[in-house]
Amino acid sequence: MRLEVTAEDIVRAVTLLRAGGLVAFPTETVYGLGADASNAEAVKKIFAAKGRPHDHPLIVHIADVAQLSHWAHDIPPAAQTLARKFWPGPLTIILKRAPAVSDLVTGGQDTVAIRVPSHPVAQALLLAFGGGVVGPSANRFGRVSATTAEHVHQEFGDSIDCVLDGGACDVGIESTIVDLSSAKPALLRPGCITAAQIETALGPSGASLAAPDAQSPRAPGTLAKHYAPRTPLMLVESDLIDELARSFARQGKRIAVLVHSARQPMIEQLVWIAAPAAPAGYAHDLYANLRRLDAAACDVLLVEALPLSAEWAAVRDRIGRAAAGSGTAENG
Ligand code: TXA
Ligand code: MG
Repeated sequence: MRLEVTAEDIVRAVTLLRAGGLVAFPTETVYGLGADASNAEAVKKIFAAKGRPHDHPLIVHIADVAQLSHWAHDIPPAAQTLARKFWPGPLTIILKRAPAVSDLVTGGQDTVAIRVPSHPVAQALLLAFGGGVVGPSANRFGRVSATTAEHVHQEFGDSIDCVLDGGACDVGIESTIVDLSSAKPALLRPGCITAAQIETALGPSGASLAAPDAQSPRAPGTLAKHYAPRTPLMLVESDLIDELARSFARQGKRIAVLVHSARQPMIEQLVWIAAPAAPAGYAHDLYANLRRLDAAACDVLLVEALPLSAEWAAVRDRIGRAAAGSGTAENG
């Protein structure tokens, strides 16, 4: 835990949660905007603060797998298997909801999303609070997620009650979401825990993780438009990015560029970031990089297309959605 978060800060944050307040907290993936999952008024405040539609369900964060049965019913053995292997950690599991879970949390669905985060500040908060904390990513709806306390501040200013500053998030992109509420396990959102790791953990019974189908629970965070900067974002193949940047520059456009294979800017007048060339590092820096490039308020943001291999799947997913949702004042 960073020294900035003291035991007194945790006590204060718990007091705020008990009073129905909004407390942003670090997790190993991204910052979450927390509220007491059992307090309907507090949960409503989350939707208002984020500008998020009410049918978009929230993840309930708990300190320990022992609390699972309070929130979920008909828990299949596969859930215990994944919990043992990956919790605490960046995995969210969708299960049948228990009657205790409010419709506000589930968006009216008969399932609930549960996660046990590993970040020491999140763990300290959840342990001291004792109950479930709903925690969507701490960003305005459709926008780029927050991976530092400063980003959270940029999103919400003083409109939330407290931000616990646990430093920059290790993983940098949101948790992997696996649906275990229906007969066939499905991957609803890729993350740093890969589909292959989940399949290995599940063994022969879960051998191939299905893609979501019409029967799968909706995961609105998998909207085509999400994680979006305001600057129009174009994904460009590596061998074309140089030429395209020059052509935009000739038209007098201001250009931001995010590359991962080049180390030198191709022309001078670019706002240019060379991201780490490996997927974990790229994910770690992704949202901070998008925020920095967006803040330059260029006419266009060129992002070098990512490799097609499985290890890049999660960041490819986020960049693809960022491209689909960029350049609009509000996203769907
Ligand atoms: O890493 C993370 O998961 C972060 C940190 C803060 O824990 N949280 C996060 O929450 O990304 P959020 O609300 O931004 O994204 C949660 C996703 C949404 O796409 C939502 O639709 C989906 O989970 N979800 C929540 N409950 C669900 C349910 N019952 N069935 C299907 N999808 C669900
Ligand atoms: Mg989100």
